[in-house]
Amino acid sequence: MPCMLRLAIQKSGRLSEDSLNLIRECGISFVSSSLKLKTESTNFPLEILYLRDDDIPGYVADGVADIGIVGENVLVEEGKQSLTVEKLGFSKCRLSLAVPKTMEYNSIQDLNGKNIATSYPNLLKAYLQEQGVEADIHTISGSVEIAPSIGLAEAICDIVSSGSTLISNGLKEVERVFKSEAALIANEELSEEKREILEKLLFRIHAVQRARK
Ligand code: PRP
Ligand code: ZN
Ligand code: MG
Repeated sequence: MPCMLRLAIQKSGRLSEDSLNLIRECGISFVSSSLKLKTESTNFPLEILYLRDDDIPGYVADGVADIGIVGENVLVEEGKQSLTVEKLGFSKCRLSLAVPKTMEYNSIQDLNGKNIATSYPNLLKAYLQEQGVEADIHTISGSVEIAPSIGLAEAICDIVSSGSTLISNGLKEVERVFKSEAALIANEELSEEKREILEKLLFRIHAVQRARK
């Protein structure tokens, strides 16, 4: 069995396409099917795992995957920034506070005493504290944008990229909490062999990044 580096990427979501494109532009070939959750490259010692983005930092920290591509939003929320190898410059987005577009909103102080739904309780908590706002944080794992319309919360804090999810749900962005982009992360105790494969991969990634500029 030749040594392979295990890369975890998001199975389906904002980062999936961009992550696969980067790997392909690195000249790494593999067959991918939407049903298979694991695939091996045919021309580079790389195995790709398709996972939920929220699970990627934990798997890389534990060594289930050797490296991963994940949004800084997830990384910082989970307190795993130390795994970062480098930022990748794509899948840029922001974590923002949003309220129903009909709500009168003048400043962050308007959120005092309100219920805010989010999948990012740690980032939100730190931000509210810094702003001197006391609100109730309601943690949910998905479909955060529907919370106000079903009476679960008065405001939300979630990832905004194009902004179309907010608009579709009658919400307006009122504060930017955190700016994020994709990052390459790695387990801190890679074997010498795996470290060498990572070096080769990084060399190719840098060439792709230079060509993109
Ligand atoms: C985020 C967010 C929205 C979407 C917003 O999900 O939760 O679903 O992106 O994008 P838009 O502004 O372009 O409409 P994300 O891809 O981070 O993945 P998730 O499934 O883990 O929430
Ligand atoms: Zn997620
Ligand atoms: Mg989402």
